Parts: sequence; structure tokens; C-alpha cells
Amino acid sequence: MMKDNPQRLSSLSVLLHWLVGITFILLLSVGILMEETDALALYPLHKSVGMLLLAAAAVRMLWRAGNGWPVPLGQPGAMAVVTARAVHWMLIIGTVLMPLSGMLMSGGGGHGLSLFGLDLLAANPDPLNPGEVIPLSRSLAGVGHELHEIGGNLMIAAILLHVIGALKHHFIDRDATLTRMLGRTPR
Ligand code: HEM
Ligand code: HEM
Repeated sequence: MMKDNPQRLSSLSVLLHWLVGITFILLLSVGILMEETDALALYPLHKSVGMLLLAAAAVRMLWRAGNGWPVPLGQPGAMAVVTARAVHWMLIIGTVLMPLSGMLMSGGGGHGLSLFGLDLLAANPDPLNPGEVIPLSRSLAGVGHELHEIGGNLMIAAILLHVIGALKHHFIDRDATLTRMLGRTPR
């Protein structure tokens, strides 16, 4: 697999960026909808897609570890470089921690973990209350829930900064940062 170089990002980098990025934004939206409307029908979909995303996000993290970050284009100031790098770290860590915290919340809560109907972890039904479950660990489930909620809000802030940065590169600095992430080679 060709590595990233300053002129061109490898097709794996481009594919994983948009696959993970778009799916992540959809899951954020579905999660907020679930929270706001109690849409129980969306839970299994949210969880299954979230667990699949963990696999792609883990591959991406390994790929970044081996390949390094994309080299900044244009003449960004030191502050811009540091901010972009910090946001990239937040984003890539968040794509792994959001699914993990969700799994901790659901698994620890006794709801089990089901990947499109395939039980990765069985639910723990309450024999005395049909339809209810008994948590495996109330405290771990609580930590998962807390991380999932705080993490979601931090990620929304990071994504906003990230997209503003991408648009600034494209429309104000008029450099090739955005088109490079679309797989094109800057002239
Ligand atoms: C990248 C993956 C994921 C993202 C971005 C994400 C995002 C979110 C967001 C933003 C919420 C609303 C939280 C709130 O406002 O309190 C939420 C709720 C929830 N998520 Fe996720 N999630 C992901 C993966 C998962 C996974 C893998 C699971 C479980 C296996 C999961 C289980 C849940 C549950 C059970 C809720 C509802 C919590 C409640 O009703 O209080 N999520 N998610
Ligand atoms: C839909 C709006 C988005 C746009 C327009 C966008 C654009 C970009 C661009 C242009 C770069 C290259 C930066 C450089 O060359 O230094 C980049 C890198 C990156 N983006 Fe996004 N992005 C978006 C959404 C996301 C989301 C939702 C995430 C994560 C949840 C994300 C995570 C990353 C990461 C970690 C990098 C560093 C390089 C890599 O690992 O692929 N992006 N993005």
C-alpha cells in the first residue's frame, strides 16, 4: 500500500477518512435523536453500526501510527499547525473511544452486545421482571455512559473546528488541503 506523501494521500487514507468521518457524524446525529425522542427502534442500529465503525477506526489508527500525519500544506503559522494537530488527535482518539464507551455502557448495563443480531455478549435478563435486564456492573456502565455523553459533546466541538479549518484552507488560504483529502494531487 502506497504511503502518504506531501503531494498525494494514499487511497487508504482517503477512504478511511470519509468512511469513518461520515459514519461518525451519522452516529452522532442518531445518538442525539435517540436521547431526545426515546426512539428505541434506533438503538440496535446505532450499536451495530458503532461497533463496525470501531473496526475501521482501529485500522485507521494503526495506519496513522505507521504512516504519520499528513504534512501541512501552504504556509500555516505555528499556532495553526499545533491546533490542527491537536484536533486530529482528538478526532482519531474519539473515533475509538466513542464505540468503546458505548459498548461499556450497553454491555456493563446488562443489555448485551449484538452485532446485527449476532450476540457478541449475551444480555442478562432479570428473571423477576420480564423485559428488564440486570447490570453486570452498574459502575462500569455508568462510566461508559458518562464518557459517551461527554465524548459526544467534545467530538461535536472538535468536528466543528475541524470543518471550519478545512473550509478556511479551501476558500480563504486557497490551498490544496481539502482537495488532497479528496484524493487529488495539488499542482
Ligand atoms: C462512533 C460511534 C458512536 C457515536 C459517535 C455515538 C454517539 C452517541 C451520542 C451522541 C449519543 C447521545 C448521548 C447523549 O446525548 O447522552 C449516543 C447514545 C447512545 N449510544 Fe452511542 N455512539 C457510538 C457508538 C455506540 C456503540 C458502539 C454503542 C453500544 C454498543 C452505543 C450505545 C449508545 C446508547 C445505549 C445510547 C443511549 C444512551 C441513553 O439512552 O442514555 N453507541 N451515542
Ligand atoms: C465532513 C466534514 C469533514 C471535512 C471537510 C474534513 C476534512 C479534512 C481534511 C481536508 C483533512 C486533511 C488535513 C491535513 O491535510 O492536514 C482531514 C484530516 C483528518 N480528519 Fe477530517 N474532515 C471532515 C470530517 C471528519 C470527521 C467527522 C472526523 C472524525 C470523527 C475527521 C477526522 C480527521 C482526522 C483524524 C484527520 C487527520 C488525517 C487522517 O487521519 O485521515 N474528519 N479532514
